[in-house]
Amino acid sequence: MAAILEISGLSKVYDGGFTALKSVDLSIEKGEIFALLGPNGAGKTTLISIICGLVKPTNGTVLAGGHDIVRDYRAARSIIGLVPQELTTDSFETVWATVSLSRGLFGKSKNPAHIEKVLKALSLYDKRDAKLMTLSGGMKRRMLIAKALAHEPDILFLDEPTAGVDVQLRRDMWNVVRELRDQGVTIILTTHYIEEAEEMADQVGIINKGELMLVEEKAELMRKLGRKQLRLALLAPLAELPEALVGRGLELREDGSELIYTYDSQGERTGITRLLSVLSENDIRFKDLSTSQSSLEEIFVNLVRNQR
Ligand SMILES: Nc1ncnc2c1ncn2[C@@H]1O[C@H](COP(=O)(O)OP(=O)(O)OP(=O)(O)O)[C@@H](O)[C@H]1O
Ligand SMILES: [Mg+2]
Repeated sequence: MAAILEISGLSKVYDGGFTALKSVDLSIEKGEIFALLGPNGAGKTTLISIICGLVKPTNGTVLAGGHDIVRDYRAARSIIGLVPQELTTDSFETVWATVSLSRGLFGKSKNPAHIEKVLKALSLYDKRDAKLMTLSGGMKRRMLIAKALAHEPDILFLDEPTAGVDVQLRRDMWNVVRELRDQGVTIILTTHYIEEAEEMADQVGIINKGELMLVEEKAELMRKLGRKQLRLALLAPLAELPEALVGRGLELREDGSELIYTYDSQGERTGITRLLSVLSENDIRFKDLSTSQSSLEEIFVNLVRNQR
């Protein structure tokens, strides 16, 4: 599969000296849903704004569909749709006029059938003659998606698309996004909702303080999620791991108070029964036990915390 978006060594230092992106390298395949996760101020909007030509990069290059976003701006921009994070839609224009006009801005000929299809898919067709300023917040957000799709882009950026959208509509929106992906559109979305990334994404990228810290297939992440930990709080602390327990995937907490056993919860055998009998044979007793599963959220929180 060919990369539709190729980002190399991309940096951004804003006027005033703040570094918002630190040499980001990222390559995104055609037809996938890529979720960019990161805390407030991580640089998500900055990255998207550079690709869409709204912010000038300080260093590095971006190729969108093979077009350099600086040197070949118009060609690059014409294959990109952007749903911005901020709602700036206090206009007297109607939904229909706004969405149609957006198509025209990209030099595409009129296509009312396409506009109709997009508005229907986003449950906005009934509101086609409504003025933007009369729309609710969730409707405005969907209108922005319709507007971004008006010129039939190959790459769609959704910057926090479901902020302020109710649960039912969020589901509807995700269906629209999946359908677009199935039609070959590449989707890049930012989100604070980890479940959303878990549910939607083919690839997940984690960004913090301008650094892209991890890019991984969601399936691979899910495999990691399959790893569980069994924690045994010991009745009497151990100075070190007894000989009989070495090589069994066990760890002794630094203060000796807890044994941590990591196992594959999806494997045929977890080894827990064996472990417990070895413990009892060696007279290691415990006062409590718990299991935990690493989630995307934990991976995320740990990465972000370690960087502070
Ligand atoms: N025009 C600007 N001038 C100076 N600094 C800026 C500018 N725009 C953004 N920044 C800073 O760059 C950093 C990254 O901002 P950005 O909007 O890219 O973050 P984000 O990941 O989209 O955050 P959020 O989740 O809150 O939307 C922030 O510290 C922000 O204050
Ligand atoms: Mg943002």
